[in-house]
Amino acid sequence: MTFIKMEDYEITLSPGGLDQLSNMIKAMYKDVHLFVITDHHVYQLYHEKFSAVLNDFLIQYVVIEPGEKSKSLKTYQNVIDTLIEKGIKRSHLLVGFGGGVVGDLTGFVAATLYRGIPYIHVPTSLLAMVDSSIGGKVGIDLPQGKNLIGAFNNPIMVFIDTDFLKTLPQRDYRNGLAEMIKAGLIGDKKLYHALLEKEEVGETEIAQAIHVKRELVLSDPYDQKERMLLNFGHTFGHAIEKKHHYETYLHGEAVSYGMLIALEVGIQLGETKQELYDEVKALLIKRKLVCEPLLAMEDYKDAIVHDKKFLSDGLHFIVVTRPGDAKIVTLKMEDFS
Ligand SMILES: NC(=O)c1ccc[n+]([C@@H]2O[C@H](COP(=O)([O-])OP(=O)(O)OC[C@H]3O[C@@H](n4cnc5c(N)ncnc54)[C@H](O)[C@@H]3O)[C@@H](O)[C@H]2O)c1
Repeated sequence: MTFIKMEDYEITLSPGGLDQLSNMIKAMYKDVHLFVITDHHVYQLYHEKFSAVLNDFLIQYVVIEPGEKSKSLKTYQNVIDTLIEKGIKRSHLLVGFGGGVVGDLTGFVAATLYRGIPYIHVPTSLLAMVDSSIGGKVGIDLPQGKNLIGAFNNPIMVFIDTDFLKTLPQRDYRNGLAEMIKAGLIGDKKLYHALLEKEEVGETEIAQAIHVKRELVLSDPYDQKERMLLNFGHTFGHAIEKKHHYETYLHGEAVSYGMLIALEVGIQLGETKQELYDEVKALLIKRKLVCEPLLAMEDYKDAIVHDKKFLSDGLHFIVVTRPGDAKIVTLKMEDFS
């Protein structure tokens, strides 16, 4: 079991340790009512086990459709209506039990319902374990774009049992792996080297990836500076997702192509070595996160130039100088012409 301290809450990493969740909740919450938001996949697979482990509590489930389309105003409204109908009070505890979609939505409901109620994350996807449940960014999408409404809202606890990964579909597993490769490249060369070897990750690698995010979040909680390093691969990754209407590529796949483009930019700027590009490309192909022919920078430049993040002084862009080391550079319009 690993404990990772954030500023005002703790992440518990306990492979196979779900039965400890009840005591951990009791240590910080004295009521018996729990309101659990989850999606249909996770509910069908795990609600019996989850209810059995938490049988000292009175659990009410709110079950949403799986997938990004549930991070919507409509689902948000439905979830709020259902929670109020089920009698939720301001002092009750919400539990986000699922992948990043469930976690982002639960955190946003918790930030806004009654001007804020406490919540915990029990992430079940690899991406949610290493990324979305860490750092307090919560929110929903609008038709105009992803994550356009949101808040910074920390949970009171994150509880990770890696046994949930046993039922995660391979493509979703690899999606989380992409964010771990990113974490290794920007902040932990040991993690990066482990991921060159291993496809199946364990407690050690998951903890290492969480630590990379932890360091950056703690030094920059509101995403003004250091935390931007987490955007490595995401500038082009977001443009790729958007151009393909969020349908063709999962986030991690789009970010994988985006990381290769960012490494190319690094080479052009003299910051990144060709050998690193070749190594990362081979890794991402082996993990089926990208395939040849790769997506070309040319086809996404327009989206980048017109992005609202392109400020008058240029675009803050992340390049990796060597495994475990990244920095922010400012790109000008001319760099994209
Ligand atoms: N808040 C943040 O800082 C942050 C960071 C990165 C990504 N995100 C968000 O995370 C979301 C993506 O998260 P995701 O990849 O977990 O997607 P997801 O929540 O849609 O889960 C992926 C799929 O896996 C299923 N699933 C989850 N756990 C399972 C399990 N144990 N067994 C079987 N199936 C399981 C889900 O039902 C879903 O079909 C996006 O909305 C993204 O914007 C947020």
